[in-house]
Amino acid sequence: MEQELKDLRVEFSNALASARDEAALEAIRIRFLGQKSGCLTHLMRGLGRLPADQRPRMGQTVNSLKKEMDAGLAAALAALASPERRGDGLDPTLPGCAPNLGQLHPITLVRRELEEIFISLGYSIEEGPEVETEFHNFEALNIPPDHPARDDHDSFYAGPGRVLRTHTSPVQIRTMQRCQPPLKFIAPGMVFRRDAIDPNHTPAFFQLEGMAVGERVSLADLKGTLTVFWRRLFGDRIQVRFRPSYFPFVEPGAEVDISCILCLGKGCRACGGSGWIEIMGAGMVHPAVFRAVGYDPDRVSGFAFGMGIDRIAKLKYGIEDLRLFWENDLRFLGQFRNESPR
Ligand code: DAH
Repeated sequence: MEQELKDLRVEFSNALASARDEAALEAIRIRFLGQKSGCLTHLMRGLGRLPADQRPRMGQTVNSLKKEMDAGLAAALAALASPERRGDGLDPTLPGCAPNLGQLHPITLVRRELEEIFISLGYSIEEGPEVETEFHNFEALNIPPDHPARDDHDSFYAGPGRVLRTHTSPVQIRTMQRCQPPLKFIAPGMVFRRDAIDPNHTPAFFQLEGMAVGERVSLADLKGTLTVFWRRLFGDRIQVRFRPSYFPFVEPGAEVDISCILCLGKGCRACGGSGWIEIMGAGMVHPAVFRAVGYDPDRVSGFAFGMGIDRIAKLKYGIEDLRLFWENDLRFLGQFRNESPR
């Protein structure tokens, strides 16, 4: 009987510990102390059958366990009704804790803003792989293996005939291979070059490529499109000028400048006193590029352009060091909340 009492005690305290509400406590009371079939009640009834010399001591033990159970149940009931449990201790006037919300990276915000402008001009968005074939990244863009332009694109090689794309221009080739003219698309994405890291260079950065191909697409269309684009981005007073330049995949090719967004052309520190900011490359698609994708250069013409998204983000937000975009310091990234046009 002694052992039974010990087991009962352990069972009771386990049951009490797992009770979460009043109904559970009442069930425990009935199970152990109930008049009809409570386990302890049952033991108490059995006391009479014990030898007379054991009866007093066992009687005492059973009684003290009963008291202990009564007290345990009462304490548990009181705890359930305490102010903390009921939530009475809650002060609804206290300010809440604002959850830490994620937000878009400044480069993403700028990329989306650029996309938005081109979408409104009727451009679609195309994509290509970051691991590219040398054919798409170079050859088809009129940059043969020994071409000096390959030196400007210090590449990461990714196995025989494969490079991490050094620019977004290969998306021109992939899109033309897949679709027939007329075409009008942009291709934003990450590109890679083996540049030493400094405030103006990171080995991965972002470009946005653009292309329009059709029956009589002209240099005037290119200049008009880019003028509208830069004015939408930086305001109606922005001027756009073309300087003749060389890129193997366009002829004629141009470096495009916009008037300085800070001094609007007067000359300031940001533009090195010139009033102009070199911002992108552009030109009329080279016949060799059309031939590489099976288009007939006598029947179609087109323009193409490419710009650095990081560089535009730097200008727009007045950021001097590109590396900040990669360090993921939340104090830096937190400054660009709510800038998204979407
Ligand atoms: N792909 C060139 C680069 O990364 C940028 C560029 C220049 C793209 C002229 C073009 C273009 O489409 O016409 O430096």
